[in-house]
Amino acid sequence: MFSLPELSYDYDALGKYISKDIMQLHHSKHHQTYVDKLNAALDAAPGLRDRPIESLLGDIDSLPQDVQSAIRNNGGGHYNHSLFWQWMSPDGGGQPSGQLGDAITDKYGSYQAFTDEFTAKALGVFGSGWVWLQPDLSLVTTANQDNPLMSGQASPLLGLDVWEHAYYLDYKNKRNDYVEAWWNVVNWDVVADRFSKSTVNS
Ligand SMILES: [Fe+2]
Repeated sequence: MFSLPELSYDYDALGKYISKDIMQLHHSKHHQTYVDKLNAALDAAPGLRDRPIESLLGDIDSLPQDVQSAIRNNGGGHYNHSLFWQWMSPDGGGQPSGQLGDAITDKYGSYQAFTDEFTAKALGVFGSGWVWLQPDLSLVTTANQDNPLMSGQASPLLGLDVWEHAYYLDYKNKRNDYVEAWWNVVNWDVVADRFSKSTVNS
C-alpha cells in the first residue's frame, strides 16, 4: 500500500512564498486523496499491487482498462507530489551551480533565460497540469496528473504543479505571481543530485 510521505520541513516553512494554509491543504488533503484513491484502485487489481509506482506509470497504457484512469490520475498525483515536496525547501532559491548550472547556461544562454522559458511554459498550460525539466534539460508540459514517465520519458529533474489548488489561496488567479515566488524555494541541491545520477545512468 502506498502512503503519504512526510515533508522534510514544516507546513509554514516556505513562509511568504507558499503559505502554511496551502501547504497543509495540498499535502494533507490533496496528496492524501491521491494516495487513498490509488490504494483503492489497487485493491481492485491485486495483480498490480507489488509493482513500484514508476513501473505502473511507465506502463500505464497497458494496465487493465477498469483501473487505468484511476491509476493514471491518482498514481500520477502521488508520484508527482512526492517529488514536488522534495523540490522545495526553506533553504531553496538562488541559482543552480556546478555541473547543472553550467549545463543550464550552455543550453539556455543564462539562468534568467531558462527561468523565463520555464515560466512561459507554466503560464501556457491550459487548466491543470505540470511543467517538467527533463534530464536532457528540455522542458515538457503535461495535463492533469500526467508526467513524462507515462510517455516513456525519463523521470524529471524538476517539476512545477500549476493546478490552482497549488496557489489559489495565496495568489488567486495570478499564476504568474506564484511561479515567480516559487523560484525562491526551489531546492537546487535535489535537482543537481538527480541530474548527476541521470548523467551517470544514461
Ligand atoms: Fe498539486
